[in-house]
Amino acid sequence: MKSFKSTAWLLPQPVLIIGTYDQNGKANAMNAAWGGQWDMHEIIISLGSHQTTDNLAFNPEFTVAFATTETMAASDYVGIVSGRNTLDKMEKTGWTIENAPNVNAPIFKEFPMTLECRVKQKIDESETGYYLIAEIVNILCDEKYLSADGKPDVEKMKLITFDPVHHTYIQLGNTVGKAFAEGNKIK
Ligand SMILES: Cc1cc2nc3c(=O)[nH]c(=O)nc-3n(C[C@H](O)[C@H](O)[C@H](O)COP(=O)(O)O)c2cc1C
Repeated sequence: MKSFKSTAWLLPQPVLIIGTYDQNGKANAMNAAWGGQWDMHEIIISLGSHQTTDNLAFNPEFTVAFATTETMAASDYVGIVSGRNTLDKMEKTGWTIENAPNVNAPIFKEFPMTLECRVKQKIDESETGYYLIAEIVNILCDEKYLSADGKPDVEKMKLITFDPVHHTYIQLGNTVGKAFAEGNKIK
């Protein structure tokens, strides 16, 4: 086994697209990989200081969409350019913006699935950022991406994961087994 010094290599990492409105109702999006499930109805995201955090200070509601191969270029773009100094950031993405039905935040129609969220807590808040805990208020899934049982079909979405080792995006593959069941084979 080769050893590497401690770094942010937890695998796999998501590609979360956070949608917010500024105080004038202008939409913004940013890319975040350092996030995950916190509790049954809550998520956590590690945030630096961004246009997104400026927006959340005024309006503590946002959306989280999961990036796909189709949305990859613009998803990366919103992670390398800030709404603080690029006024046409959202126009450049080409995404279709609509109001989320349950929170005061934008949804981007090109994404198969989106969480509607509300800030619950900011941990270790400083001028450089904070750990955001948020309630999942509702989950939206484009009907095109539902499976026969009426639930979201993750395989259909062509989601991408962020590889922090080589700074690449990898498309998720096929279902290979059933959780809470495969282990029964050797029980
Ligand atoms: C792959 C990738 C992952 C990122 N992950 C995070 C993250 O977890 N937290 C964070 O604060 N910024 C993260 N960023 C950086 C922000 O997306 C970036 O600073 C963005 O320009 C902020 O946009 P805004 O100022 O318009 O809100 C990531 C960027 C990329 C490309």
